[in-house]
Amino acid sequence: MSWALPPAYGSGEDTNEQPAALPSGAQGGLGLITLDDVSKRYPNGTEALRDVDLDIGDGDFVFLVGSSGAGKSTIIRLLIREELPTTGHVFVDGQDIVRMRRSQVPRLRRRVGVVFQDFKLLPRRTVAENVAFALLVTGHSDEEAREETDRALTLVGLAPRRDHFPDQLSGGEQQRTAIARALVSRPKILIADEPTGNLDPVTSWEIIKLLVRVNELGTTMVMATHNAEIVNALRRRVVHLDHGTVVRDERQGLYAA
Ligand SMILES: Nc1ncnc2c1ncn2[C@@H]1O[C@H](COP(=O)(O)OP(=O)(O)OP(=O)(O)O)[C@@H](O)[C@H]1O
Ligand SMILES: [Mg+2]
Repeated sequence: MSWALPPAYGSGEDTNEQPAALPSGAQGGLGLITLDDVSKRYPNGTEALRDVDLDIGDGDFVFLVGSSGAGKSTIIRLLIREELPTTGHVFVDGQDIVRMRRSQVPRLRRRVGVVFQDFKLLPRRTVAENVAFALLVTGHSDEEAREETDRALTLVGLAPRRDHFPDQLSGGEQQRTAIARALVSRPKILIADEPTGNLDPVTSWEIIKLLVRVNELGTTMVMATHNAEIVNALRRRVVHLDHGTVVRDERQGLYAA
């Protein structure tokens, strides 16, 4: 079993969809994620990102750090096309997701799994139902959904809790459920916005170890965090934002310069 396998579903949709041209300024052998001269101004005038260039390779593990309001979540919202940049381009897996048709967004969201600080589970659904939900609403058979759900729950160590409801779980178990839900469609990229923000230190480490394992199995990982201890212990790539610009981008970086 490998999470690096090609997506189990949806590949047939790709055939008549030409990837938009890659940015002329970008390097050859382009990464899985490219932000090309991206700026984002929210409707109220806040300039959240300014001239951001960022290239993230297949299999990378990247921490987004920076003080509150630096623009970390804005980058994440751009990557799942929850927001559009004011100027610039965002490429995910070779596709210009700014110019992408709206009908293509659900497919993007299956290739880019997301996990949030507050889990965002459906309270009246069991663990297994939360994980399977996205597959069922996109028309997969019960059997396919069950197989993929079982695999995702096993990966996160939650198979024994499959019939519990979110309010019967610890915070760490809720976050594992959210991670399983994000992984159930075998995305190439897993994005986490402060995934340990609501967890105690011990549970935070369990979640981080799980995310490291997911990355080692081939999923590209982008994580916004304020957790200096975790960033300093892992020594992965660190992209530091300050007032919407990238001020530091280091391989094996630390939380602070
Ligand atoms: N929907 C919005 N409308 C207007 N301004 C926004 C919106 N979302 C974010 N902002 C502003 O954009 C800037 C960047 O916000 P963002 O949420 O990306 O920061 P962040 O680095 O994720 O911060 P935190 O560490 O607190 O989560 C901030 O000044 C914020 O107030
Ligand atoms: Mg944020």
